[in-house]
Amino acid sequence: MDVVEEKRNAAKYALSFVPSKGTVGIGTGSTVKFLIDLIGENREYYGEANFVPTSKETENRLREFGLNIAYNFRGKIMIDIDGADEVDPQGNLIKGGGGALTREKIVAHNSEEFVVIADSGKYVQRLGKFKLPIEILPFLAEQTISNIENLGAKVNLRDNGEFKTDNGNLIAIADFGYISDPEIVSQQLSHIPGIVEHGLFIKMATRSIEGHGNSVREHVYLKKKGEGHNQ
Ligand code: A5P
Repeated sequence: MDVVEEKRNAAKYALSFVPSKGTVGIGTGSTVKFLIDLIGENREYYGEANFVPTSKETENRLREFGLNIAYNFRGKIMIDIDGADEVDPQGNLIKGGGGALTREKIVAHNSEEFVVIADSGKYVQRLGKFKLPIEILPFLAEQTISNIENLGAKVNLRDNGEFKTDNGNLIAIADFGYISDPEIVSQQLSHIPGIVEHGLFIKMATRSIEGHGNSVREHVYLKKKGEGHNQ
């Protein structure tokens, strides 16, 4: 079974989590594209749902299907469904391969449930083979990069600084090697001024759907946000 089919199967399975009414976060990337297509094919059923896109790319695709877009509203998002670049056994993630990590993290944080959909190749014992994307302000970017390097990473700018996020910022790609304590690295990065957001999503996913061969595997990490994380 190839990777594309695994992504499609994970997306298909996750469709049953998308409510017909209410507010739904929609991530970014090729796996999520399959989900958007499935929602779009059933546009009438989802006519009363409002979708919160995590990127302009996702917003455009949702609009092509005539689905409702929501940005300004009060209250929690019922559920957010997004892809990932790496998933560890505790459900900690590396995200941001598409450069959308800041909006993705805001939407995930504000959702009652955060469901990851991914092919089996994304599931790893330890995070870090996929280099960590970090969104940084262009202002004094070299100083910000040097502060990240002081944590033990080798850092390059995505496309030598040509790539700009939807927020007009740069993406630094940090190679930490395998990350033995993702929670600590996450905290250290959060303390560096100039970093808008980083791609470590710690204890945020409530569950993940893994496309695995011809089938899917469901991993549950949290019953609800704020409850104990499975170890
Ligand atoms: C986007 O910024 C990323 O966080 C994506 O969720 C991630 O790159 C997964 O992409 P694929 O679904 O294309 O593998």
